[in-house]
Amino acid sequence: MWDPDRYLRHADHRLRPFHDLLARVPTASPARVLDLGCGPGNATAELADRWPEAYVTGLDNSAEMIESAQAHARPGRLDFRAADLAADTWLPDGGVDVMVCNAVLHWVPGHLARLPGWTDALTPGGSFALQVPANFGDPAHVLLDELAASARWKARVAGEPRRFAVHSADEYLDVLARPGFRVDAWDTTYRHVLHGSDPVLSWMEGTALRPVLAALPDPERAEFLSEYGALLADAYPARDHGTVLPFRRVFAVAVKDA
Ligand SMILES: C[S@@+](CC[C@H](N)C(=O)[O-])C[C@H]1O[C@@H](n2cnc3c(N)ncnc32)[C@H](O)[C@@H]1O
Repeated sequence: MWDPDRYLRHADHRLRPFHDLLARVPTASPARVLDLGCGPGNATAELADRWPEAYVTGLDNSAEMIESAQAHARPGRLDFRAADLAADTWLPDGGVDVMVCNAVLHWVPGHLARLPGWTDALTPGGSFALQVPANFGDPAHVLLDELAASARWKARVAGEPRRFAVHSADEYLDVLARPGFRVDAWDTTYRHVLHGSDPVLSWMEGTALRPVLAALPDPERAEFLSEYGALLADAYPARDHGTVLPFRRVFAVAVKDA
């Protein structure tokens, strides 16, 4: 279960890669735009601002996210609907001019094989833009995996999906750069300077920690958070100017020939 409010806690930092991704989308005046895995809809609303002539739809498989996103709906311009990108039957309707998929595909197993079918739905001159986190080897994730696998917690949080399959910029480039498409793929490491107490714990609560916490009843959830928070405080010490969270991300934009 997603918690839109928790996810939005670090919205300014989380939107930076979204803006960097959009800056590389060249499609000038799309009529139909899809935001795949739209979350709470704040980024989707920015797509509607960027392309005022377009009809924009945000899709997500979380009922909580879709409900929260409805606050951004604009009649005749921007709507939100439930859809599961991981379903074998899911394909975009034909005639899509822009598809954006920001910070979503790590939750969609086997997504690399789906990309050719999705990009086939683009109109000539249309763009498909993706961004995925590529920090799963960083202390925030390694410490979470180790703690969840420790003797104390293993039985209680076992089976929770914390394995994220993402690919390198090269792999996305190879899959997307079919005849008739040109592709721009790159990676970047951000250094998010976070403030407040336990800021990395609060960041992780909005995303990867969510399935683990959902598996635990209340008193144990607080214990797990306290143990994980102490590990994070050692790994990401507070500095005078804040707590630095390095975060590598992979991007790719595929543009169909006009
Ligand atoms: C980290 S949030 C990103 C939200 C938004 N794209 C943004 O940039 O702020 C990931 C979103 O992907 C959605 N998601 C995960 N798996 C999905 C699937 N199989 N189908 C549709 N949405 C999915 C989640 O519900 C969540 O809202």
